Amino acid sequence: MIDFKALAQEYGTPLYVYDFDYMTKQYEELKEAFRGRKSIVAYAVKANSNLSVVKHFAKMGSGADCVSIGEVRRAFLAGIPAYKIIFSGVGKSDAEIREAIERDILYINVESEAELGRVELIAKALDTKARISIRVNPNIDPKTHPYISTGLHDNKFGVDLSTAKRMYIKANNSENLDPVGIHFHIGSQLTELEPIREAAVIVADLVRSLEAIDIELKFFDVGGGLGIKYNDETTIKPYDYAQAILSTLTALDMTIICEPGRFLTANAGYFVTKVLYEKQNGEKKFVVVDGAMNDLLRPSLYNAYHEIEALTQSEGEPREVDIVGPVCESGDFFAKDYKLPPLNHNDLLVIKSAGAYGFGMGSNYNTRGRSAEVAVENGKARLIRRRESFDDLIALEREFLED
Ligand code: LLP
Repeated sequence: MIDFKALAQEYGTPLYVYDFDYMTKQYEELKEAFRGRKSIVAYAVKANSNLSVVKHFAKMGSGADCVSIGEVRRAFLAGIPAYKIIFSGVGKSDAEIREAIERDILYINVESEAELGRVELIAKALDTKARISIRVNPNIDPKTHPYISTGLHDNKFGVDLSTAKRMYIKANNSENLDPVGIHFHIGSQLTELEPIREAAVIVADLVRSLEAIDIELKFFDVGGGLGIKYNDETTIKPYDYAQAILSTLTALDMTIICEPGRFLTANAGYFVTKVLYEKQNGEKKFVVVDGAMNDLLRPSLYNAYHEIEALTQSEGEPREVDIVGPVCESGDFFAKDYKLPPLNHNDLLVIKSAGAYGFGMGSNYNTRGRSAEVAVENGKARLIRRRESFDDLIALEREFLED
């Protein structure tokens, strides 16, 4: 059990707390599911990019799935070897492509024909051959929130099957491109296996048709997306996930890559915030806390549910309240009509499942410094990012202030 009161006392609030042992357990369960097959679990750095978190996965042998050169640099700093780093994203700048090639990462995941052309040109200028994969958009409905659905043709990601085939042929004939992998990622917070299996079948068929024309790929990258329990969702078991993917790869000797983010970190994370006061407007009751949408955006952006536990001595009857932060937006809430007991000034609320897309989607809106982050491992807590101060917030502007 994590002693949130003690941590809040020592590090202040609002505060992110990550259970590193839980991350270990999740990583090992997934790795085990692919046992006996060549596989790389490439942690999706965007889910929680704190260097100590990435390093925790690096120490277990994880790779990294990155979507900016900044994330690639984080992966290197955290000790992930170049040969386990993948660089994806629909819009990479020339400078990013150049640096990725120079750093000799496992491959650049190309998302359009135009991008393939840029990668080729840049590799040529560097007098080298760039390893690439192509992100295929299999046009499968992943049955998740539309904002985090990515595998349909009306999403901006990847290319359709016939374009992909044309691109592989072009890459294979190029002096400066080395097509080594194929990639798809149909969405995030997936709770049904069938769409993943269907997508894998489609992509594996493309691999076979490429083999028939002597284009042999080594890496079959199934993206991320494994859903987790926020509330009462049924989730996919890693073993079933692995079996579903493996079943589509008969007669193909490929290394499987998966890119989980949320699965590894979401339920390891807690956002701890302090009650400032309660108030009532007409019939509506509010609990105002010191954390806000700039710390944890998911409820405001996706209407996402996060379980909330009140650490209080109060024994009154629970009632329905909106839990809101101090930011000047009506969308600044963590939950609406949520049942909590009456709360006192300085009671703590622990918002759960906050380890993925929590801190990373934070901002400084309303000139609020971002929270501190703390890791708990083997019963010991340590600071892994200090709280931002006012000076941190103005550091990049101060020198430009005119008299
Ligand atoms: N690989 C690719 C290419 C991705 O685009 C993503 C996530 C992942 C892997 C990791 O997906 P995961 O295993 O975490 O589902 N901010 C949203 C989630 C956006 C996900 C974007 N891509 C949220 O808070 O729910």
